Amino acid sequence: MEIRKYQKDRDQEKLMKMITDEGKEWSCYTAGAAFKKYCAALEASITYVACDGDILCGYCRSINDCGFYIYVCDLLVMPEYRGRNIGQKLMQCIYKDYPDVTVYVMSDVDKYYKKLGYAREGSIFEVKKPNI
Ligand SMILES: CC(C)(COP(=O)(O)OP(=O)(O)OC[C@H]1O[C@@H](n2cnc3c(N)ncnc32)[C@H](O)[C@@H]1OP(=O)(O)O)[C@@H](O)C(=O)NCCC(=O)NCCS
Repeated sequence: MEIRKYQKDRDQEKLMKMITDEGKEWSCYTAGAAFKKYCAALEASITYVACDGDILCGYCRSINDCGFYIYVCDLLVMPEYRGRNIGQKLMQCIYKDYPDVTVYVMSDVDKYYKKLGYAREGSIFEVKKPNI
């Protein structure tokens, strides 16, 4: 298993397919107009991929807030590759490459991050915009 930085030419097609195959919660990134936007986001973000030979089986995308904090936005492992610590290894890449930056993850699976030993810090709110 190789974990490395995302490379557009090598990985884009496989990664977008993996995300689409994950189903409706994830295909919002790859359907219609979002496709181009998400491809650009993958390049602009700190993105790592996990590869088993030619098979791209996981990825992690994070954004760097000017060196103050890193926010992990997306973490996904292909269903048939789950339970092999690939998710954990993808997360490790971030804090190995950015040892001086605090890393936060935007969690949809609290139990998983608790299992990895991460500490809960606050919560997230969606800002509701008034009708102007
Ligand atoms: C969450 C996810 C990334 C975990 O990836 P993974 O490579 O299977 O995880 P790991 O192998 O590193 O798991 C390590 C441990 O966490 C446990 N674990 C995995 N997913 C879990 C979950 N959803 N809830 C609780 N524990 C979980 C594993 O059982 C394993 O425990 P063990 O060592 O006692 O067997 C993967 O299940 C996934 O892609 N899920 C769908 C997308 C998703 O929910 N992403 C997170 C959005 S923020």
